[in-house]
Amino acid sequence: MKALCWTGVNKTSVETVEDPKILNDHDIILKVRLSTTCGSDLHLLGGYIPSMRAGDVLGHEFMGEVVEVGKGVRNHKVGDRVTVCSFIACGKCWYCSQKMYSLCDNGNPNPGLSEGMWGSAIGGCFAYSHMLGGFAGSHAEYVRVPYADQGAFAVPDGVSDLAALFASDASPTGWTGADGAGITPGDTVAVWGAGGVGQMAARGAMLMGAEQVIVIDRLPERLAQVRQHIGADTLDYTEDSIVAELKERTGGRGPDVVIEAVGMEAHGTGPAYLYDQVKQQLRLQSDRPTALREAIYACRKGGSLFILGVFGGFVDKFPLGAMMNKGMTVRGAQQHGHRYIPQILQHIADGELSTEHLATHIMPLDQGPHGYEMFKNKQDGCVRAVFQLDR
Ligand SMILES: NC(=O)c1ccc[n+]([C@@H]2O[C@H](COP(=O)([O-])OP(=O)(O)OC[C@H]3O[C@@H](n4cnc5c(N)ncnc54)[C@H](O)[C@@H]3O)[C@@H](O)[C@H]2O)c1
Ligand SMILES: [Zn+2]
Ligand SMILES: [Zn+2]
Repeated sequence: MKALCWTGVNKTSVETVEDPKILNDHDIILKVRLSTTCGSDLHLLGGYIPSMRAGDVLGHEFMGEVVEVGKGVRNHKVGDRVTVCSFIACGKCWYCSQKMYSLCDNGNPNPGLSEGMWGSAIGGCFAYSHMLGGFAGSHAEYVRVPYADQGAFAVPDGVSDLAALFASDASPTGWTGADGAGITPGDTVAVWGAGGVGQMAARGAMLMGAEQVIVIDRLPERLAQVRQHIGADTLDYTEDSIVAELKERTGGRGPDVVIEAVGMEAHGTGPAYLYDQVKQQLRLQSDRPTALREAIYACRKGGSLFILGVFGGFVDKFPLGAMMNKGMTVRGAQQHGHRYIPQILQHIADGELSTEHLATHIMPLDQGPHGYEMFKNKQDGCVRAVFQLDR
């Protein structure tokens, strides 16, 4: 079959690879209909996530049609239309029973590498390096979905393929942040990053009762999407002083909840940003925490921070003093999508959540390398490049 592979730092190509097979009774094989780029892929492309191998099939945000089911699968049959959580979880271990699905003890068949880096292994994820399991991704005609009863979700009639696509990764990631930050009705929430993840975190926060939601970025087309499709306010960090502006809008206190949806390749302004960029490129620090620092400074005393942006290792000049003295609660996670995908699909069906607008560029898989170029460089207003496999 055809698949889009990682072939080296900043290199991808469409290759012919072996078709996936059922390896375990709980697997299904999915004929992929739509698969999309995610900000997390950019960290793979940039070479910031270790343990990628040339030839690895990319893609972890996808939906499609079930074409084969393992003997132990109960919830799915051939012909079903499903969206699949990007993280792979067994549904039975202690972490899954606590609904912390991305921390599943059984989802990652290759735990040694992340145990060494982080002290414990986390769960598995499609196409997210050998450290997170070495699973083949969804930028392909077919993909094997392990633990399919847990990770694949039937798409309700009336929800389009395109809308359901983003219930795989971007939306449940946003929900993980908004819910995990402990939003209470009436809160002011500030979200750094207006990509798919930041937009979904903002919408999740609104549906969970936040009164004022403000999204921060520099790309005007993304900020326009936030105003039009999400219904949140926006700030441009190249024009406004973010900390001062957020205080101004919150009676001098700062937001109750701050959500970081930018990650290790944050942009910024001024000498501190240049210093971070040089250090990261010389591999003297693994991550650039520009937005993270700002979120900590902006947060009100006693407020909470949720880190959704992916970080791999160590950061420089982390404002530990501000965090500790202001009495902040800090959390972060890879998405616990199994917990949120059913309600997200329902919100889409009920017309309360718009996701299709994220698909700014739809193209056949053959144009995958071009799609990644556009997405990486944010060309032509690209928010997500979507690969269409069924034609
Ligand atoms: N936790 C999870 O499970 C999970 C899942 C998916 C994605 N992610 C991560 O979330 C992050 C965002 O993903 P995405 O798909 O939206 O990516 P994206 O690249 O489409 O969007 C990132 C946005 O951040 C903006 N940005 C850069 N520097 C900024 C700054 N200093 N302040 C404010 N905005 C800034 C960029 O302009 C861009 O619009 C990535 O790090 C990705 O790896 C995490
Ligand atoms: Zn992702
Ligand atoms: Zn588990």
